[in-house]
Amino acid sequence: MTDTTFTPRVFSGIKPSGGLTLGNYLGAIKRFVGMQGQMETIYCVVDMHAITVWQDPKELAHMTREVAAGYLAAGLDPSQSILFNQSQVAAHAELGWIFNCVARVGWMNRMTQFKDKAGSNAEKVSLGLYAYPSLMAADILLYHATHVPVGEDQKQHVELTRDIAAKFNHDYKVDFFPATEPVIEGPAMRIMNLRDGTKKMSKSGESDMERINMTDDADKIAKKFKKAKTDPEPLPETVEGLASRPEARNLVEIYAALDDTTPEAVIAQYPGAGWGTFKPALADLAVAKLSPISEEMARLMDDPAEIDRTLAAGADKARAIAEPILKQTYDIVGLLRG
Ligand code: TYM
Repeated sequence: MTDTTFTPRVFSGIKPSGGLTLGNYLGAIKRFVGMQGQMETIYCVVDMHAITVWQDPKELAHMTREVAAGYLAAGLDPSQSILFNQSQVAAHAELGWIFNCVARVGWMNRMTQFKDKAGSNAEKVSLGLYAYPSLMAADILLYHATHVPVGEDQKQHVELTRDIAAKFNHDYKVDFFPATEPVIEGPAMRIMNLRDGTKKMSKSGESDMERINMTDDADKIAKKFKKAKTDPEPLPETVEGLASRPEARNLVEIYAALDDTTPEAVIAQYPGAGWGTFKPALADLAVAKLSPISEEMARLMDDPAEIDRTLAAGADKARAIAEPILKQTYDIVGLLRG
């Protein structure tokens, strides 16, 4: 089975379960913008994924708009990309159910993100959290998406999507769903926590000092980089010298991703530099790159009705692609429809 018969199409999404972080920007949104115009691009605010853990309803609506504002402010253009929130296209949930019947419990049990999130509390988490990767497969396959730009933490879920597509095609003897490729490239695939370079920077980390939020102002950004944990050594002379220095490597990778360059080039620019030199340079770069985006996000958030209109218009376009694919899926499975 190959995916050569499928038109190249990008799908990706972000959960509105907290404010956007620098990890979401560098690992996802900035790359979404880079793919826009190269092929058809569909970007979703995956609100139904967010509710797999408790969300305050008002806060969920606010965060959904904020992620949409982040997309727009970073350069996603509704005339070039389809932008919408997942719950407006019911076909996601419908295909998700079919995939719940294709995916195996054993596959779900191997999902490391579920194990991390559920921890020792697995009996008490929602059933939705467990089934989450099968809804994610539905998000992608509902559009026959061939390319999925994500950060490193989502790789296993995209691989599961391929397994679900292959099993569906095999069970029903069709060549209907493509083998989607995860697109994981560049220096920012796993931005780490600023206080602990062995943990991922995430929306839900305990302390605000461990992440840069897309809504942070210049002073906060500078303060967070200044206080970022590092080892006492200066930067190395070559990139190999970062190998066993997770915090140093993280700051160099953030610099490289913000500046559209490579860690090698950053080290070549700052060989042997002390943190007193590098951290302020990184903070200045981050402020220069992020402030225009956060200012535009704030401006967009002043007119929530306009964001809602943009999402509704995007949902109409998404439905036009998704519904015929869902109908064909129903026919393949033998579910009657009028
Ligand atoms: P979410 O909302 O946790 O994260 C959204 C995107 O941001 C990336 N990301 C990071 N990249 C680098 N470093 C980090 N510290 C970092 N933190 C987050 C994530 O890898 C992701 O690309 N399950 C997904 C959402 C989803 C989805 C989809 C994605 C639902 N359906 C279909 C792609 C296609 C999630 O929870 O991402």
